Amino acid sequence: MSLPALLVLGACALLLVWALLLLLRGLLWRHGRLEPGWRRLTLIACERPTPELLRLRLRARLGLPLPAFRPGQHLLVAAPALPGERRAPRRAYSLAQWTGRPREYELLIRREAGGQVSRRLYDGLRPGQRLEIGLPRGHFSPAEQEADSLVLVAGGVGITPMLAMAQWAAARGLPFALFWTVRQSAELVYARELWALAQRPGARVQLHVTGEPEIASEAPWAALLRAGRLPLSDLPPPRPGQQLFLCAGSTFSAWLKQSLHEAGWPDAAVHEEAFAVAAPISGGPFDVACAEQQLSWTGGSLLSLLESRPGLAPSAECRAGSCGSCRMRLLDGQVQWLLEKPQDLAPGELLACACVPGSALRLAPV
Ligand code: FES
Repeated sequence: MSLPALLVLGACALLLVWALLLLLRGLLWRHGRLEPGWRRLTLIACERPTPELLRLRLRARLGLPLPAFRPGQHLLVAAPALPGERRAPRRAYSLAQWTGRPREYELLIRREAGGQVSRRLYDGLRPGQRLEIGLPRGHFSPAEQEADSLVLVAGGVGITPMLAMAQWAAARGLPFALFWTVRQSAELVYARELWALAQRPGARVQLHVTGEPEIASEAPWAALLRAGRLPLSDLPPPRPGQQLFLCAGSTFSAWLKQSLHEAGWPDAAVHEEAFAVAAPISGGPFDVACAEQQLSWTGGSLLSLLESRPGLAPSAECRAGSCGSCRMRLLDGQVQWLLEKPQDLAPGELLACACVPGSALRLAPV
């Protein structure tokens, strides 16, 4: 072949590669730009096993692999935007179904009566829709601890990180005991997976149903069922090398942490996932001024106070002091931190989800 013909052929090949790259980019980013670290995934399954629970499975276009996650990590999920809404609200949800090389993400979400995001997701999502999600993150993970065995305690949708941890432990041959408490047996959406895990050497699983005195089921996993609350005596006693992970509602968690403390569990061996910082229920009263509005704080976090007035609250993605999205400027007054103050905050800034007033305050958006 002559040199000019080779040059023309080479140029055509380059043009073809360029066109293919443009096409691929168009496919992946068809709906506009996303913030760094965010992506759009397709909802391939969307089930509502009870009037409160939403089970979602998400996949990338073309089934491409997704970023790996550590068991116990969570995703930020943006609610589908309403017409005219500049930035849809976001919330953190734990990932279920751990695997070292994920091609899907799975979430189990409870529809909260006052939940800005969970209600929109539960009421509006359909298979095939695209959802915007952030990268997996969070430090609530046994992968960050030295442990020779795990005790996993879940209440309700708190099972999502615990299922992931049990799957991770089983893959490593690490002994674990998992205790899951729900109100109704219809909520036991991962019973089959847990039954399979319970067959592994070194595994123990108990499923507690508090709202049904008798549970009739012919499923094999019925052998794991217990009626009534989890008795503390069923938990293994504390011993060195054993780490306990807890994800449940605030009342159950408070009871369990107190009981574990009294039973001799070292605080450092008990890890709790909380998507809200525990704030005093009452306090003050203190005046809080923000964006020319006057409020009175008498308890709860600063964030909950600001959320009581439309348009006043900053966006709050994790509600647990880790994402920084609820930063505000403190113009005047003193606050008390409910968590250790993050190092990377600019002088004069606070996190509304992690602070309460220690005096009258003047705040401004960042
Ligand atoms: S909401 Fe994430 S730090 Fe406050």
